[in-house]
Amino acid sequence: MNDKITKIKKEIDGYLIESKQHLEDFRIKFLGSKSVVKQLFGELKSVPNEEKRTVGQLLNGLREFAQGTFDKAQENLADNQGESQKIDLSRPADQIEIGARHPLSIVRSEIIEIFSRIGFSVSEGPEIEDDWHNFSALNFPPEHPARDMQDTFFIEKGEEEIALRTHTSSVQVRVMENSKPPIRTISPGRVYRNEAISARAHCFFHQVEGLYIDKNVSFADLKQTLLYFAKEMFGEKAQIRLRPSYFPFTEPSAEVDISCTICSGKGCNVCKYSGWLEILGCGMVDPNVLEASNIDSKEFTGFAFGMGVERIAQLKYRVNDLRLYSENDLRFLKQFTPEM
Ligand code: PHE
Repeated sequence: MNDKITKIKKEIDGYLIESKQHLEDFRIKFLGSKSVVKQLFGELKSVPNEEKRTVGQLLNGLREFAQGTFDKAQENLADNQGESQKIDLSRPADQIEIGARHPLSIVRSEIIEIFSRIGFSVSEGPEIEDDWHNFSALNFPPEHPARDMQDTFFIEKGEEEIALRTHTSSVQVRVMENSKPPIRTISPGRVYRNEAISARAHCFFHQVEGLYIDKNVSFADLKQTLLYFAKEMFGEKAQIRLRPSYFPFTEPSAEVDISCTICSGKGCNVCKYSGWLEILGCGMVDPNVLEASNIDSKEFTGFAFGMGVERIAQLKYRVNDLRLYSENDLRFLKQFTPEM
């Protein structure tokens, strides 16, 4: 009996408890109702009477030893587990994915920056506009085709027509109504037109329109401002060309081309061998437009221009499908992340 007790004690001493499973195995083997220790207690009956006392004491000692070992191991395990849940302050952090700026935002900021260097402020206005600010104050005749359902997304038809603005000239009307010349401002923003979506057209796009009103503002000022813009945006070699055009709100009006950014005017398939690329519309503000906003057209003159941000981005980055700008395809957007 003594030998058995010594043997079990040794076994307990050398028992490796490194997991919850080990602990449970240990409990069943040494402490449970069918444990070896319990068995020995059962055998106590057959021990001669005079030895019962000493053997009983040894057995009690063995049981306490097993229990003590169990308790200690349980405590250790719990501690270790706590340890693994603690925050490891020395561990390097996971890298946060860096987002890229949208190409249209990059180009819009660049346009704003170029004009702010020559004194243009930025004005913004609502995307949902009334007829007055989008059309009437801009000298659109009542039956002008641009008001037609084909171009404009109307929100309310009837006496007071409300629509999604078709250009940010509407913002310039608001500026003219609310301030006195000299006015020198650009209005960047999203505009909407009811067009079928394709590589070359979308139902919304972005514009930056400019307005300059003061005494003696001339067409030469307009031309020089646009040449300055073209050179800042596309490089010192950029040239511009003005072609007569028509807008209800400007007279005279012009369409502006820039010398092809690919072939510098020699002719290539981007400029369709003309050497020129159209970039914006412009003109001298029609006196009717000034008067509609209570600006004296005898005292003041002004010029206005408007460009599509997508168009400028297209020329800068050679993106020939407008849909790419709004599809959120990361393969496209990632290309505009600055090198890291
Ligand atoms: N508002 C015109 C457009 O959306 C652009 C433009 C602005 C033309 C100012 C001339 C002068 O097409």
